[in-house]
Amino acid sequence: MEKVYTIERVVEIKFEDGNLISFEDCWLRDHCRCSTCYHADTYQRSQHILDIPDARVKSFSFSKTQLNIIWDCGHNSLYSAEFLLQFDYKKWSDKRRLRPQLWRGTEVTDKVARLNVKQFLSSAEGAKPVFQSLLDYGVAFIEDVSPNLMGTEEVCQALGGVQRTVFGGMWQFTTKPDHADTAYTNLPLAVHNDNTYFTEAAGLQILHCIEHTGGSGGKTVLVDGFYGATELRKNCPEDYEFLTTFDVEAEYIEEGHHHSYSAPIIRINRSTQELTQIRYNVYDRSAMAFADGGLCRSYYRSLRNLARYYQDPANQWQFKLKPGTVMVIDNFRVLHGRTSFTGTRVLCGSYVTRSDWLDRARTLKLIG
Ligand SMILES: [Fe+2]
Ligand SMILES: [Zn+2]
Repeated sequence: MEKVYTIERVVEIKFEDGNLISFEDCWLRDHCRCSTCYHADTYQRSQHILDIPDARVKSFSFSKTQLNIIWDCGHNSLYSAEFLLQFDYKKWSDKRRLRPQLWRGTEVTDKVARLNVKQFLSSAEGAKPVFQSLLDYGVAFIEDVSPNLMGTEEVCQALGGVQRTVFGGMWQFTTKPDHADTAYTNLPLAVHNDNTYFTEAAGLQILHCIEHTGGSGGKTVLVDGFYGATELRKNCPEDYEFLTTFDVEAEYIEEGHHHSYSAPIIRINRSTQELTQIRYNVYDRSAMAFADGGLCRSYYRSLRNLARYYQDPANQWQFKLKPGTVMVIDNFRVLHGRTSFTGTRVLCGSYVTRSDWLDRARTLKLIG
């Protein structure tokens, strides 16, 4: 077992399997897992960052299974090889990577989960295919649900719990306009993400069409927002760069409420360049002032070029939702809309926060 403590204060260890990993001494001191430094029962650190000394390694030894460090502050730390091996950066970041499988048009019709509600509600394990489908495609269906608010609520609870917003917790709406929103009319609704005006948009949108009688139309339209963004990056890199950096303001106003939030339309992880959120809603954009004319023109050009992907029927998946089928979509990724309709159409559903549904997925070991 080779080990070195360099003058740059780095501990380099060559593990049994040949893995060579470097640890800064400040990292090692911070990651001490002794009972003074760490509460193993709550998985929390017990020392304030300002109380953890910037110590140097006084002496150390490494056996097959553990690293033992005596610090110049007098503290003694033990680390298992198994613990340390998790922090090989590549492995560590790979484990956390979401692996969305991009789609266009109708190509995921037969791939997304369509799970019977009995199986979905049977156990955490039984619900797994729905969470896997949401991670992979951003869409899942739960079938044979009672076509009412109560039946839908049970599904929402099992997806992570109902999120309360200005629209309530569980909501139900018809063509009756009781909120200042285009969704409450029978006009066509171009694809969009919800809540671009919230500091954190809803994670999941759950929609259940519990009645459509005396008319036609009202097809649901879905688009993979990540696919459109990826195409834009390939074909119009300048526009992609603009939409990933320029803050676009969105707002929601009704009597007694004014939500507003500014952020890029395409959000990415700056260190990995991976897409993290699409915040696209052409209706909820605020009236905005621009620092200069160039920015203003870039904004319109980029947004139109992105919108072309999302409006292209070849990229859209259209279908008719039937009473009994609950549709679940990842609002950070998949855009939704609907065609115009006649007759009485009643929908119910709710939102689930992203933190809450990813919590379920992580507990099921589907993500790191
Ligand atoms: Fe919507
Ligand atoms: Zn310690």
